[in-house]
Parts: sequence; C-alpha cells; structure tokens
Amino acid sequence: MLMTMEENLMAIKNEAISLILAAENLQSLEEIKLQFLGRKGKLTLLLKEITSIPTEDRARVGQLANEVKNAVEDTLDNQSAIIKDEVITTKKKAIDKTIPGVEPKIGHLHPMTHVISDVIDVFKQLGFQAADGPEIETDHYNFEVLNIPKDHPARDTQMTFYLDTRNSKTSPGEIILRTQTSAMQGRIMEKIKPPVRVIVPGKNFRYEQVDASHGFEFGQVEGFCVDKHIRLTDLFGTIDYVLKKLMGKDIKLKFATTNFPFVEPGVDTYIECTVCKGKGCNFCKHTGWSEMMPAGMIHPNVLKAVGYDPKEVSGFAFAIGLSRLVTLRYHMDDLRILTNPDLRILEQF
Ligand code: DAH
Repeated sequence: MLMTMEENLMAIKNEAISLILAAENLQSLEEIKLQFLGRKGKLTLLLKEITSIPTEDRARVGQLANEVKNAVEDTLDNQSAIIKDEVITTKKKAIDKTIPGVEPKIGHLHPMTHVISDVIDVFKQLGFQAADGPEIETDHYNFEVLNIPKDHPARDTQMTFYLDTRNSKTSPGEIILRTQTSAMQGRIMEKIKPPVRVIVPGKNFRYEQVDASHGFEFGQVEGFCVDKHIRLTDLFGTIDYVLKKLMGKDIKLKFATTNFPFVEPGVDTYIECTVCKGKGCNFCKHTGWSEMMPAGMIHPNVLKAVGYDPKEVSGFAFAIGLSRLVTLRYHMDDLRILTNPDLRILEQF
C-alpha cells in the first residue's frame, strides 16, 4: 500500500511533466493543470489520501508529495513563460514588415577557378578540348615519354615527391606526384590520332621551400596541338591570341629561346610587367618583364614515344603558369593567398 502511494506519486509526476513539456499553447496547459491540480485532479485526490496512511510514514510520504506538487507547478510556470515568449516574438515578426531581410551569403568562385574557366573558354574558341588527369602519376608519363630519361639533368630542376612503394609490386621511384601537367601529353596522344588539340588545367607538385613566390603545389595549364604541317609560327600566333584575350589587347610580348627536353626549339614567352609597365618593380624582379608561358615544338622523340610518325605530323606544346596569371590579374603579392581557405581573405577577390 505504501509503496503504491510513493510509486503513484512518481508516476503522476512523470506523466504531468511530460504532458506539460509537450504542450504548445496556454489552453492545453490550463487543461493539464486542471487534470492534475484541479479540485478533482489526479494529484489533488492522491494528496487527500495521505491522511489515511500510518503516522510513522506520513512525514516521508508527505514530503515527497510536496516535492511532486512543487515540481509540477514549477514546470507549469516555466512552460507557460516559454509559450508566452514565443507568442510575443512571432507576433512581433508577423507585425513588423519594415525590418530589412537578412541577405544570404552565397559566396563566389575562387579566383583560381575563375581564371581556369576563362582559359578554357579562350582555348575552346581555337578548337581545344579540356582534359583532366591524375595527380599521382608514373615516372613513365611524367618523365620518360617526355624525353627525360632517368639520368637526365632536367630531373634535377623538378624536385620530385616520390610515393612510398614498399610492400607493393611497384619498383621504388615509379609512382610520384606529377611535377608537370605535360605528363598528360603521353596519356592523351597514345589514345587519339592527330589532329589533336588539348589543354590540361591542373595541379603540380614539387619539393620546394615555401615562400611568397614559391609553393610546393602550383597550377598550370598544359596545352598541345599536333597535326600535319604545324609550324613555329602557329605556336607564336596561338600564344599571342590567347594572352591578349586573357590579359588585354594592349599587352606587350616577347619570345626568347629556352631549353626543355621535350621541345625543339624551346620558346619562352615574356609579357611586359603589367604592374610597372616595363619600368621595373619588385614583381618583375626589376627586369620589366614577367615570364608567362614556356613552350616549343614537340620533340620528335616524344612523337615517336606516343606512336606518331614525326615525318608525318608535327606539333607545339606550351604551359601557362596559372598562379602567375591569377596573381597578376588580382594584384596579389603572395602566392600563399591562393591556398589559404580564410574567407576574410577570399571575400576580397
Ligand atoms: N612542363 C614544363 C614545366 O613545368 C613547362 C613546359 C615547357 C611545358 C615547355 C611545355 C613546354 O609544354 O613546351 O617546367
């Protein structure tokens, strides 16, 4: 009998509190109050029975009964305050139509993504398709196909990240992070016959000390074109057209010879510094010119390696340094901004 009394009290307390917390308006709160604390309410009736229990237990049960009653009343008060508060705020919201809306933050494309899509658009007009390729590459496509055998000094200029091939069937040194998007020349030309016109925007990786103008990761767009009778003047014309589209028609270009194992002759493209207009500044290292686009006529050894006949077809290749293009366009003075995810910085571009 006593156990039942105490158990009853706890059961009523649990029932009342869960009903109260679920109540959504003042009217149902009032009904719940009646149901438990009204003249014929469940708790009221139970409290009356306390007088009939043995005196030695009465104090303990009485105290529990008080606690239950207080808990139910407190919860009722709290819930009623919460409901009133909600009503007031919704009323306010519903009434004041003059409060300006909160503008949602939509964000925008990253400057690098902008520049890549501009580059793709310009080349599309010249019939180039854009391709994508693996950043984890084989030594074969990154070097061998490109006329850079294992002992070639050009390897020293491309400090390479090697992947750990222990416990695998691959020999050490065979799998790397690609150092140049040129690696896609072999992959693509092996698959399709000329005419070929492809650009490959992508990331490259080199073991470099990171500072304002060097990163261990950099963006590049490789491009190549192979067909019958492709000449050096086609390369010059293409570069001139593309850079004027991307940088404005008033830019000044100059070409110089250079050396890459996969092109013969090799060509370096310089653009007059857009920051100082050729006068010399920190950005162009006081030369008045910025190096923009290494290029050249594809070496016969590369054509042979991908299964083309150098007597039948010829081609040119080039690379655009994406970081240079982005930093010039947005006047960024530190390459690290390009890989910094801080929105306070990115929102400025
Ligand atoms: N892959 C070279 C590098 O990253 C750049 C390059 C030079 C690409 C000449 C070319 C080219 O296609 O013809 O250092």
